[in-house]
Amino acid sequence: MKFITAITALATAAAIASAELPPPGNFSSCDSYPKDLALTSFTLSPSPVCIGKKFCYTATGNLSSSIVDGATLSTTVRYLGRLIYNDNANLCDALIAGGHKNCTIPAGPVTLKICREMRPNFLPNVPMKFQASAVNGDGGTLFCQTATNYGVLGC
Ligand SMILES: *[C@@H]1O[C@H](CO)[C@@H](O)[C@H](O)[C@H]1NC(C)=O
Ligand SMILES: *[C@@H]1O[C@H](CO)[C@@H](O)[C@H](O)[C@H]1NC(C)=O
Ligand SMILES: *[C@@H]1O[C@H](CO)[C@@H](O)[C@H](O)[C@H]1NC(C)=O
Repeated sequence: MKFITAITALATAAAIASAELPPPGNFSSCDSYPKDLALTSFTLSPSPVCIGKKFCYTATGNLSSSIVDGATLSTTVRYLGRLIYNDNANLCDALIAGGHKNCTIPAGPVTLKICREMRPNFLPNVPMKFQASAVNGDGGTLFCQTATNYGVLGC
């Protein structure tokens, strides 16, 4: 038991260490806790995002509980650890903006297109830490993804 615990701790430490420096624009999980949406892919388009324009996350994976009313989406951007951008939205609105007809998403394999607009109060072409997280209406975390050294263009 102890040996297995040590191996697990080592594997977790290795995963955290490698998660610290993902390539620019590449997302990885914010932490090692399991989420209600087990992601197989998480992408941002366009990449980089254009200031003042619409951008979308595409999240593909297996949903362990349906997305219910009251789910929220948060996008934050940090520069040298300081919060410089904070956007909170109703996840349903963001799903509708992504072309979903209905935002009651049943559990099972899903591809979610989630769209927002990047507000223009933003410094372009500076490497920053970009984070997207979604919390279900029942309080469960759907996903939390982060990318470091992310430069948003003023295009
Ligand atoms: C993300 O990482 C992969 C593999 O390391 C690399 O091929 C790809 O170019 C990266 N994407 C971006 C946008 O940097
Ligand atoms: C999705 O997750 C459920 C459990 O939450 C599991 O029963 C099911 O087999 C999974 N489906 C896929 C395609 O991985
Ligand atoms: C939305 O989808 C759910 C599950 O597929 C369904 O039960 C519900 O009736 C749909 N609602 C509308 C307004 O289409």
